[in-house]
Amino acid sequence: MSTVMSDLHQDHHNIRELLGLLTRELDAVSDASGGDFELMRDIMVYMTRYPDHTHHPKEDLMFARMRERGIAPNTEATIKKLLREHVALAEKGNVFRDMLIGVVDGALIERETLVAAGRDYADFLGYHARLEDETVFVEAVQLLDDADWSVIEEAFEAQSDPIFGPVIQHEFRTLYEHIRDSAV
Ligand SMILES: [Fe+2]
Ligand SMILES: [Fe+2]
Repeated sequence: MSTVMSDLHQDHHNIRELLGLLTRELDAVSDASGGDFELMRDIMVYMTRYPDHTHHPKEDLMFARMRERGIAPNTEATIKKLLREHVALAEKGNVFRDMLIGVVDGALIERETLVAAGRDYADFLGYHARLEDETVFVEAVQLLDDADWSVIEEAFEAQSDPIFGPVIQHEFRTLYEHIRDSAV
């Protein structure tokens, strides 16, 4: 499998892990037993940084290469849908992230509003990644050749994951330690 495709799969795995963490915190907020707002904020800062600025654009480039190779109408329809979802995910993610930044800074936001926005985001991103796994990822492997994968790889070479990549960015240190400790 190409490095690009294994990285995209790994991104999905990491995203699912973070969405699991997020959902657990949302459950705690929902039943008023707690909820770590700083952790949720860090998750959303990451989501709006790495997936929105590297993972999804990398997929967008992969979709463009697939189109150049020639795709069936149903694949074209799926790609159009996924491209729209990338835009919608970024918008929803920004709104939810800003909500959490506000809460950490002391803003008062209704618990139900925050939980609803969080669950909506987690469900949407979870469904989106699953759809890709089951459709375009499978087709991309069949359709693209080494030259396509190299173009995609080179375009994103400089962008590494700030949590799961080789260097953990300082601002994500606490979240990284949380992930590491909850995996043990
Ligand atoms: Fe995507
Ligand atoms: Fe994806």
